[in-house]
Amino acid sequence: MTERTGIFAGDDPFALSRRWLEEAEKSEPNDPDAAALATVDRNGMPNVRVVLMRGVEDNGFVFYTNYTSAKGQELEQAGSAAFVIHWKSLRRQIRVRGPVARIDPSQSDAYFNARPVQSRVGAWASRQSTPLQSRETLIAEVERLTETLGDAPPRPEHWGGYRITPLEIEFWADGEFRLHDRFRWTRADRMSGWTIDRLFP
Ligand SMILES: Cc1cc2nc3c(=O)[nH]c(=O)nc-3n(C[C@H](O)[C@H](O)[C@H](O)COP(=O)(O)O)c2cc1C
Repeated sequence: MTERTGIFAGDDPFALSRRWLEEAEKSEPNDPDAAALATVDRNGMPNVRVVLMRGVEDNGFVFYTNYTSAKGQELEQAGSAAFVIHWKSLRRQIRVRGPVARIDPSQSDAYFNARPVQSRVGAWASRQSTPLQSRETLIAEVERLTETLGDAPPRPEHWGGYRITPLEIEFWADGEFRLHDRFRWTRADRMSGWTIDRLFP
């Protein structure tokens, strides 16, 4: 196997991802966990947008969104997704591909309940990715829901987390003269061990 030392060392790609993310938290000005999440629609047309990758678990990456949004529909329909996180301050990226599924409702509840009340009301008020007549319409809806939902709004059913369970993770770091380092970890399924290849830049 190719030699992996320094920032690429380790036998667990999730631990490695956490390590890189922790480094990025110290150097990025904002949102070190911001990931470009790629999906395809039912016609095979790609789509991409940024989401916050809130959890690097022992066997997956978790983010939160509106289940009825464009991305929600595309994720449910395709059953798989990819994302990339690029840290300009570190000159590194992580790429991930794999099946995607909703996380357990209790885990979504726990995350939702830890958010500020205004964010929780916002999740109720937003019919994400559908046309909105005006900003005033949204503000009025937030005010109405702030009255009716009270101090502890529960998680709406249309909002929650997804987990990508990778079959492929690539760690990339900038090298001099574009001779970058790339290590691709692949496995056949979520229970299998990883194969690691160094790739040409
Ligand atoms: C820095 C940043 C972080 C974001 N985080 C999230 C997020 O965690 N969840 C989310 O649903 N949208 C997030 N968004 C908004 C999405 O990029 C997108 O506009 C929205 O989810 C609608 O996407 P869709 O129409 O493809 O479903 C974020 C945007 C930015 C720029």
